Amino acid sequence: MVQRRLPRPAELRPLLRPAPFVRDATERRLARAASIGDLREIARRRTPRAVFDYTDGSADSELTLRRAREAFLHVEFVPSVLNDVSTVDTSREVLGVRAALPFALAPTGFTRMMHHEGELAVASVAEEVGIPYALSTMGTTTIEDMAAAAPGARKWFQLYLWRDRAPAKDLVARAAAAGYDTVMLTVDTPVGGARLRDIRNGLTIPPALSLRTFLDGARHPHWWFNLLTTDPLTFSSLVTSGGTPAELINRVFDPALTMADVEWLRGSWDGKLVIKGIQSVVDARRVVDVGADGVLLSNHGGRQLDRAPVPLELVPPVVDAVGDRAEVLVDTGVLHGGDIVAAVALGARAALVGRAYLYGLMAGGRKGVAKAVSILAAEIVRTMQLLGVNHVDELRPSHVRFRPNG
Ligand SMILES: Cc1cc2nc3c(=O)[nH]c(=O)nc-3n(C[C@H](O)[C@H](O)[C@H](O)COP(=O)(O)O)c2cc1C
Repeated sequence: MVQRRLPRPAELRPLLRPAPFVRDATERRLARAASIGDLREIARRRTPRAVFDYTDGSADSELTLRRAREAFLHVEFVPSVLNDVSTVDTSREVLGVRAALPFALAPTGFTRMMHHEGELAVASVAEEVGIPYALSTMGTTTIEDMAAAAPGARKWFQLYLWRDRAPAKDLVARAAAAGYDTVMLTVDTPVGGARLRDIRNGLTIPPALSLRTFLDGARHPHWWFNLLTTDPLTFSSLVTSGGTPAELINRVFDPALTMADVEWLRGSWDGKLVIKGIQSVVDARRVVDVGADGVLLSNHGGRQLDRAPVPLELVPPVVDAVGDRAEVLVDTGVLHGGDIVAAVALGARAALVGRAYLYGLMAGGRKGVAKAVSILAAEIVRTMQLLGVNHVDELRPSHVRFRPNG
């Protein structure tokens, strides 16, 4: 029988010590987030529905994104125990420069719509942490403003080629002059994907004040206040006159893009060239044959072709085909540092993350992006230690196997 007694006040005192009060409301909110999923939940509550859905959603039935995420869930790690893992080095050379972590922040359009601090917040975190960030052609901050705000960041520029080549030539020249070292040409958008959530929400860029958005605005006054009291939401690299996201893509981009355009770009850009949106071994070979320094295996976060190949599954065969001539990067579906560890173990030079940092941005601006990156970084370190690996470069395909049934 357990003998019961009354606790003494001296025993209660340490238990009743209140947690220190965090004055900053954003920090208070973020302190409770322990995963990217938690940041997503905060983001969902903090932003108008159409904006959250634009970020969170993908194309058609959203199968592409679901499958990409499931592939990561089917990963089983093969750990080795009794290794000294008291120190861990997470750095990785990516396209000729060492990054502090084996991932980069992916290019995402309309970033100031998600949070008014936008691209500058993302670039500032990339600079502080020491990882690359790719500014999008559909960005809401200019090439030069981002370079001035984060001079020490490693900057990449994501390029869409459109019907008239002159603006693309100009953008690439501006990126070179502003110190961007890599151009990432996106090739999976000959036309816009069918983002059904955007159609159902009536999303336009910039958001228009319909009765519905007005009513939603009442639930997110801080978001509307920030939108209306900061620089107007415009595309900094495009001259265009608004509309739905799909209309914009279809108006501006070129469905007739071919390998000749990749060759043209290779001849016009001296820095590193990565082709983004490669989804087969054959295409990886074709672009490396014409001089690409890297291929990014990606289906655009599931926002283009529905039922597209799973990028993670393409890593081993593409590394086999072109790994001795070019670097293989991968994105789509990364929500955990362990996903990045698995991708690198399978042979990827690095992963890119899109939504993971955008959820952070929507949840708390720059502080939220920093939180997202720190969550991923801690997960990478912990996964490596539990796997028995000291250095990212020691990760091997033998550290990963797939469980076909989850
Ligand atoms: C809201 C949003 C906007 C995006 N805008 C662009 C873009 O302008 N250019 C581009 O090449 N990719 C764009 N992407 C795709 C990302 O670069 C990246 O491929 C994708 O987000 C990776 O998947 P993940 O979000 O699951 O990490 C966008 C993705 C999102 C979620």
